[in-house]
Amino acid sequence: MERRDFLKSCGLVLGAGAAMGTPLSAAAESLILPSGDGEVDKSYNDIPVRGLKPDVAHQVSVIIIGAGNRGRTYSRYAELYPEALKVTGVSDILPDRTEWLSNKHDVAPEMRFGHFREVFASGKKLADAVAICTPDDRHFEPCMKALELGYDVLLEKPVAQTEKQCKAILAQAKKYNRIVAVCHVLRYSPYFLAMREVIRSGVLGEIACIQHLEPVQYAHMAHSYVRGSWRRSDETTPIILAKSCHDLDILRWLLDKPCESIVADGNLFFFKKENAPEGAPAKCTDGCPHEARCPYSAITIYTKLKQHLGVFDLHGDKDPEHILARLKDPRYSSYARCVFHCDNNQPDHYVADMLFEGGTSASFTMSAFSHKGGRRTRILGTMGYLEGDMSKFTVWDYLTRTPKVWDRRVADIPEYRGSGHGGGDLALVRDFVEAVSWQDKDRLSSTIDVSIESHLMGFAAEKSRRNGKKQKL
Ligand SMILES: NC(=O)c1ccc[n+]([C@@H]2O[C@H](COP(=O)([O-])OP(=O)(O)OC[C@H]3O[C@@H](n4cnc5c(N)ncnc54)[C@H](O)[C@@H]3O)[C@@H](O)[C@H]2O)c1
Repeated sequence: MERRDFLKSCGLVLGAGAAMGTPLSAAAESLILPSGDGEVDKSYNDIPVRGLKPDVAHQVSVIIIGAGNRGRTYSRYAELYPEALKVTGVSDILPDRTEWLSNKHDVAPEMRFGHFREVFASGKKLADAVAICTPDDRHFEPCMKALELGYDVLLEKPVAQTEKQCKAILAQAKKYNRIVAVCHVLRYSPYFLAMREVIRSGVLGEIACIQHLEPVQYAHMAHSYVRGSWRRSDETTPIILAKSCHDLDILRWLLDKPCESIVADGNLFFFKKENAPEGAPAKCTDGCPHEARCPYSAITIYTKLKQHLGVFDLHGDKDPEHILARLKDPRYSSYARCVFHCDNNQPDHYVADMLFEGGTSASFTMSAFSHKGGRRTRILGTMGYLEGDMSKFTVWDYLTRTPKVWDRRVADIPEYRGSGHGGGDLALVRDFVEAVSWQDKDRLSSTIDVSIESHLMGFAAEKSRRNGKKQKL
């Protein structure tokens, strides 16, 4: 059955049919819903989920620039589908990371690089594509150079550190007519893809407003934005980009309309010196008297709960003593710091209100204070209401008053197991590999223009947070 026919059979292809102004009978007839209040219809689970297997014209070669967490994540696709992707080069300023990833993919000695500048030093193109997975302040230079040399680029978010640099990358991609896939991984997750199908079906009518919450689980916040690499907005990007560019992007992508204005606020509420309990030492490993009562303790988070271990180069050895030794090793000991004694400046809660073309409003909240992550989204439409938490969403149709649910557990879809961000990580690589192999930009979820547009929303939000004024886009 054709995909469109299939969606139609689930009542998913209504176009504008269910919107206000269309005869109600037409909208109602198009919906296949069970009768009776209170019943739960799970037919949204039948929305097709595309597997990770690619459809390629030929194998694509890629150089991984930055062999850290993300570089390793994306290169896993080459292990799963070697006929589609081959890692032919690796670059990292840490030689052990270059070696480890190179050995895994059998990379030739001459294609093992240190600094990314070594990749481009010959002035020749050495592979079909590069994946830029370096820290935020090292995206712009390698991306500009890669495009100039004719590479297609898988580019980690945030695209760059300033609005000007983002626009320069956009211009460079157009000038050299190259494919750039920005790693807005949520767009590729089955959950958000299904949500978008439902919105497009028209069952919600016109969308008047969206409420979107990004709870950054408390330990994740402590790890990444208090102790870790993204703790300072001046060294990376403001948290609205470093963390929440995914959320601004998903709002823009779900609504499929440009944002016209944004107003934002937020601050560093908790993770600062004045909140340190008396006698707390600079590092949790220095015998903190509060350890047993502190949920942010590095010893608890890393050695006991074993969360966020990707930064420690453990390669599978998760013995608590081994992790503790890493926390005391100067290369990793910044992760042992007391959360009240770091040099962090990122807000730990952030709100932004947006107005989109056509009058739809969206309000966004990011907060560090939550027991679990998983974006919560409420979409309030003229004909229906949708509420979801990234594992499940429910739609209430005002005509039928019967809830209809999507709750496919991505972990239960074998191919998606281990693909982070609700499965989006590897689905993004699949689409990128296909786009490069067929030289077809349309295989990506959007043009680079739209990806950059959602970054511009982030820069505008931060401007508003700082100057207290609504920003027009
Ligand atoms: N798309 C997402 O959902 C997502 C999630 C997490 C991180 N990120 C982004 O991905 C990027 C990488 O994050 P990460 O968690 O993998 O960080 P990481 O620190 O684990 O990895 C970055 C790697 O780049 C290397 N590096 C630094 N300078 C280099 C240079 N000049 N040349 C070559 N290599 C260099 C580092 O040594 C490190 O191994 C960041 O921009 C981050 O914001 C995106």
